[in-house]
Amino acid sequence: MPVALEVRGPVAVLTLDNPGKLNALSLEILDAIGGHLDAIERDEAVRAAVITGAGEKAFAAGADIGHMREASVEEGRAYAEAGHALFRRIEEFPKPVIAAINGFALGGGCELALACDIRLAADTARLGQPEVNLGIFPGWGGTQRLPRLTSPGIAKELIFTGRHVTAAEALSIGLVNHVYPPTELLDRAVAMGEEIARKSPLAVSVAKGLVNRATEGDTGDGLERECAAFGDAFASEDQREGMAAFFEKREPRFTGR
Ligand code: COA
Repeated sequence: MPVALEVRGPVAVLTLDNPGKLNALSLEILDAIGGHLDAIERDEAVRAAVITGAGEKAFAAGADIGHMREASVEEGRAYAEAGHALFRRIEEFPKPVIAAINGFALGGGCELALACDIRLAADTARLGQPEVNLGIFPGWGGTQRLPRLTSPGIAKELIFTGRHVTAAEALSIGLVNHVYPPTELLDRAVAMGEEIARKSPLAVSVAKGLVNRATEGDTGDGLERECAAFGDAFASEDQREGMAAFFEKREPRFTGR
């Protein structure tokens, strides 16, 4: 399998597994991630996913340059669409997705991480959008998600120069949330997934959608969406359970309903 799936309690770990090509994102790998997401979505016991790369060197060193080298306009567009469809699915996925960036996250690999909800990096990781070196530019969401996550100025610098940033710099520009020693990275990512898994899956999912749309429209629109969704939360079993557990001084048992 080009992508391994391991279920660790409530957390599914997806490992991109073509280290000889630095886990370059072939169509086969994109398809395999999508297939695993289908299974994770159906499995009520799985409440969060982690994506990482096999080997010590790379999370993913980008889209598959071999696939693109002789591509026509139509093929280039189809490849862009394949990445966009998957990354949008990750972004809209009803369960949180954490990127555990264990090495190079370049080009499409960086864009994959950008589509995840939370990014954790090994201190050895290098991130960047080096497509301009190949005569192209980010085509899997980088021109849109990188400026939203960092700033337009930082995104332009990274996209125009193609330079790689260290994990420490990625932390300082808001591109990653935390940096860990490589040997701790995956356990830390799973631990974060487990922590989230103890919360109401419904509340986490609704909050993810609201945060995703925070940059759409004006603040008033977003606040109205939040108000409406907050009201709806009081129709859920999770709200009753969470508040009952608080007063009964016990751990809540959330079902996501
Ligand atoms: N697509 C296809 N193959 C890739 C790849 C990619 N994005 N990135 C790396 N590979 C392959 C290399 O061709 C090489 O294959 P080979 O062993 O058959 O020659 C193998 O992975 C190892 O890469 P190599 O370049 O030898 O490793 P390195 O340590 O010298 O350099 C990088 C590592 C990440 C700096 C370098 O591989 C690189 O710049 N990759 C491309 C990054 C990029 O431009 N991504 C955006 C693509 S749109």
